[in-house]
Amino acid sequence: MTPKIRLKDVHKSFGDKKVLTGVSFDIMPKESVVVIGGSGTGKSVLIKCILGILQADSGAIEVDGADVTHMTANQRDAANNKFGMLFQGAALFDSLPVWENVAFGLIQRGMKRKEAKDRAMDTLGKVGLAPEVGALSPSELSGGMQKRVGLARAIAGEPEIVFFDEPTTGLDPIMADVINDLIISCVRKQGITALSITHDMHSARKIGDRITMLYEGKLIWVGKPEEVEHSGNAYVDQFVHGKAEGPIKMQLRR
Ligand SMILES: Nc1ncnc2c1ncn2[C@@H]1O[C@H](COP(=O)(O)OP(=O)(O)OP(=O)(O)O)[C@@H](O)[C@H]1O
Ligand SMILES: [Mg+2]
Repeated sequence: MTPKIRLKDVHKSFGDKKVLTGVSFDIMPKESVVVIGGSGTGKSVLIKCILGILQADSGAIEVDGADVTHMTANQRDAANNKFGMLFQGAALFDSLPVWENVAFGLIQRGMKRKEAKDRAMDTLGKVGLAPEVGALSPSELSGGMQKRVGLARAIAGEPEIVFFDEPTTGLDPIMADVINDLIISCVRKQGITALSITHDMHSARKIGDRITMLYEGKLIWVGKPEEVEHSGNAYVDQFVHGKAEGPIKMQLRR
């Protein structure tokens, strides 16, 4: 079976700062993969390279078998239509009402405003937001509500692949679990392929079919959620159990 996403030896640096130093990984169709790893290790950069927001320095990134790093702008747009993205900060447009934030990509792709609005309102309902919220400005919402709007925007276009960057960060435990369930339902019921980033180990275990850890530019471990507690890998162990002592030293970030 062709992987939905294939990463082959992906490298990315900023100046002399090496962030990704050879990431290779396959994500299969309808699979939910979670990337864990310390702050600043390059998790968001990895997703941005797949999305084409950042350009990988070398290596290949394939979506449904096609290398997206060497595409024309038109081919790239077509590939990007398969993607939905929940950004780490919800990244909403304050100048647009909530519904239009959710409908933005749909309208861009040529859907009529009325139809796009209906779809946006429907999707807001799926993430547990009342219809009145659609008319508000994002700045009038709590952080958790903004997160849910971001999630609605990510899934409104019924994408084949959704990237969730820290989907539960900043949410109360109950709302976090609502979001976890929503991600699971996207994968199980709509058959999407999901790549999520999280520091929240409860969420990682719940939403991931597989979990992988990014450390010093490479994926150093991959396993099933039930294996992560007893991975036998000192780095994973330290991260999962949140211990200050271990092989991972806190570094001054630059
Ligand atoms: N556009 C950019 N230009 C220069 N450096 C960048 C850029 N984007 C990210 N970086 C650097 O790449 C490194 C990895 O950043 P990234 O945002 O991927 O971390 P992360 O693993 O997502 O961390 P967190 O868990 O805190 O979100 C950081 O040192 C960051 O400063
Ligand atoms: Mg990040």
